[in-house]
Amino acid sequence: KGKRAFIAGVADDNGYGWAIAKALAAAGAEILVGTWVPALNIFESSLRRGKFDESRVLPDGSLMEITKVYPLDAVFDNLEDVPEDIKTNKRYAGSSKWTVQEVAESVKNDFGSIDILVHSLANGPEVTKPLLETSRNGYLAALSASSYSYISLLKHFVPIINPGGSSLSLTYIASEKIIPGYGGGMSSAKAALESDTRVLAFEAGRKHRVRVNTISAGPLRSRAAKAIGFIDMMIDYSIANAPLQKELSADEVGNTAAFLASPLASAITGTVIYVDNGLHAMGVGV
Ligand code: NAI
Repeated sequence: KGKRAFIAGVADDNGYGWAIAKALAAAGAEILVGTWVPALNIFESSLRRGKFDESRVLPDGSLMEITKVYPLDAVFDNLEDVPEDIKTNKRYAGSSKWTVQEVAESVKNDFGSIDILVHSLANGPEVTKPLLETSRNGYLAALSASSYSYISLLKHFVPIINPGGSSLSLTYIASEKIIPGYGGGMSSAKAALESDTRVLAFEAGRKHRVRVNTISAGPLRSRAAKAIGFIDMMIDYSIANAPLQKELSADEVGNTAAFLASPLASAITGTVIYVDNGLHAMGVGV
């Protein structure tokens, strides 16, 4: 029987979430996505108008189908968490049931269960500021959107993930090595995400037989990465210094996600898997 995947953090065809959706669709999975509420209208209308059709083409020539797009804001766990100004904001008021708990309930009502949960989202309002200049609010917002959002997603979805299922997130080497420019507490957020991957692997493994891993991905010119402002430099640096001197394609991360979600990876949990042309293994630039 085909598997069903929920991928949180797809709002265009440039990011890792889209590439992961495609790789899972190519492997036969049914695709559900969670799209950030403020980006929902543009994403859905672009999908409808065929703007992504070229990037929907799968290796067999068919087009990836997204069965359903759910509005999602992963910094809110349930309605009680949502402040008044967001509730009445017109981009949010146009949608409903977009807190994490409500999305999990909607997926349960619509489909009963899933097999694969993917977290491909991050946000750090002060990402362009050095850590020394980051405010408390900026730091906590980075952790809320980029780290706790994963705990919350897994917590609310794990009861409907079939035993043997797989969950994964995306991380970045700035968690363990100094990457100047990846500021605002985003390096801290990725360190938390990687540590949480281990603890959640234990808890979800013991209780639900669900595997939990994270992919440490190399640089990709996504919308989020362009907002940080140093992505072209990081891509050039990787091509110059990594063991494999080529630009990383999002599909290479997508394929790893498909492997991790498959029975081929049935003993892999609690790990950080590097998909970065080997750059993480270098000690000096050459
Ligand atoms: P992206 O822009 O395609 O994806 C980020 C998504 O997060 C966007 O769709 C955005 O709408 C969504 N988002 C932001 N705040 C949200 C919230 N509160 N609730 C729900 N959705 C929210 O960019 P990218 O780069 O593909 O990012 C995906 C993941 O990959 C992130 O975790 C990122 O840190 C990670 N990553 C990216 C690298 C890169 O060079 N692009 C390198 C290593 C990791």
